[in-house]
This record gives sequence, structure tokens and C-alpha cells, in this order.
Amino acid sequence: MDQQKTLGQLATENPAAVRVFERLGLDYCCGGNQTLEQACGAAGVAVEEIETWLQAIPPEKVVKNWQDEPLFALIAHIQDTHHAYVRETVARLRPLFDKVCQAHAANHPELRVQNDVFNGLAEELSSHLMKEEMVLFPYIIRLEEASLEQRPAIPAPFGTVQNPVSMMMREHDSAGEALRELRQAASGYALPPDACASYRELYRTLLEFEADLHQHIHLENNILFPRAIALEAAISER
Ligand SMILES: [Fe+2]
Ligand SMILES: [Fe+2]
Repeated sequence: MDQQKTLGQLATENPAAVRVFERLGLDYCCGGNQTLEQACGAAGVAVEEIETWLQAIPPEKVVKNWQDEPLFALIAHIQDTHHAYVRETVARLRPLFDKVCQAHAANHPELRVQNDVFNGLAEELSSHLMKEEMVLFPYIIRLEEASLEQRPAIPAPFGTVQNPVSMMMREHDSAGEALRELRQAASGYALPPDACASYRELYRTLLEFEADLHQHIHLENNILFPRAIALEAAISER
């Protein structure tokens, strides 16, 4: 395995690597520009350990390599799987957070910090998903259609696709930071001895939410956005 490749590149080439990075807490999406060597060094993980984990994963046909699929299919997958998940889970976590805070915040004041960070993240994500669905994704679909039909792309009100992409990537960095704050406030999601069933469900769902958002941002930052930028450049060169 090439240690000088970035985690983002490795996750793009081998979708199974995502599970290994997630398990070892290596950031392959928002901080995906670190090389494997740098990321392992910072996390105190041996590169050999990653290789052992990767070999232990059976080759899975269900993990699609989105690098080879049409962009409209990738966009449909992102919306149907990840955007739908964010909306459903935020709606489910809000009342659960309130319930757990009411019962436990007196003994565990860090729950209020987590609730505030989560609410801020949920607000940001709500407008972020809307911008992708209303502006950026439809433009990328039009770019792909223009490319297939060998005609020029319709000019976009935002100039080049690079502009909304840069904005979305800044928002991804901010979401990644909120996930780190949440994890820190929750002491890595270690449950206290007095945790009730709702508390356990809250932490289990937050962990799942974190992994889903990492995967979601990876598909956009490392696959969809670079491919859209390259496609726009190829069309304008014709
Ligand atoms: Fe998205
Ligand atoms: Fe996004």
C-alpha cells in the first residue's frame, strides 16, 4: 500500500478501506488530504495494522466503486441514502436528546454541550442539503447531459462549478469540526455507568450518524466534486 497516497485517494480506490479508517478513527473525508503515513503517525497506528485490517475484509460486491458510475447515479445515491438519512435521524435525535437531557443533564452537564453542538450542526446541514439539491446537483446533472450529447453546457449563474464546490467543502469542514466537538464532549461515546436505555440509544445513533456523515462527505469531496470539476473543464475545452 502506497503510504504517500492520501486517505481520500485510498478510500476512493478501495471503498472497503472506509470501514477500516472509520474503525481506527482516521479522517478520510474532511481531513482526507493527509497521506496514509501522516495520518497513521498522528493517530499512533502502524501502517501494517491498516494492511492487516484491509486483508481481513472479504471482497464485497455490495460496495460499489462510485468512481466508475455515472454522476447522476451517484447523486441519486447521495440524496436517497445520505440526505434522507440525515433528515430522518435529525428528526429522531432531537426529541431523544431532550429526553436524555431531562433525565441525566443534572449529573452529566456535558449532555447540554452535546445537544447545543448537535442542534447547530443540524441547522447547518439543513441549509447545506438544500443548496446541494437545488443548485449544485442539478447543475452537475446538466453538465453530464451536455457531455453525453456533445453540446456546450448551459452557463451557470455562479460562474464555474468550482465556486459552489468550494462553498460546500467549507461547510463540510465545519460539519467535520462539529462531529469532533460532539465526540469530545461525549468522551468518545463511552457510556457512564448510570446510562439508561435512551442514553445508550442516543450514543449508538450519534456514532452511526457520525459514520454516515463521514461516508457522505467522502463521496462528495473525493469523488463527486473532483469529477464534476474535470467534466466542466473537458466540456469547455471542446
Ligand atoms: Fe450531501
Ligand atoms: Fe455536502
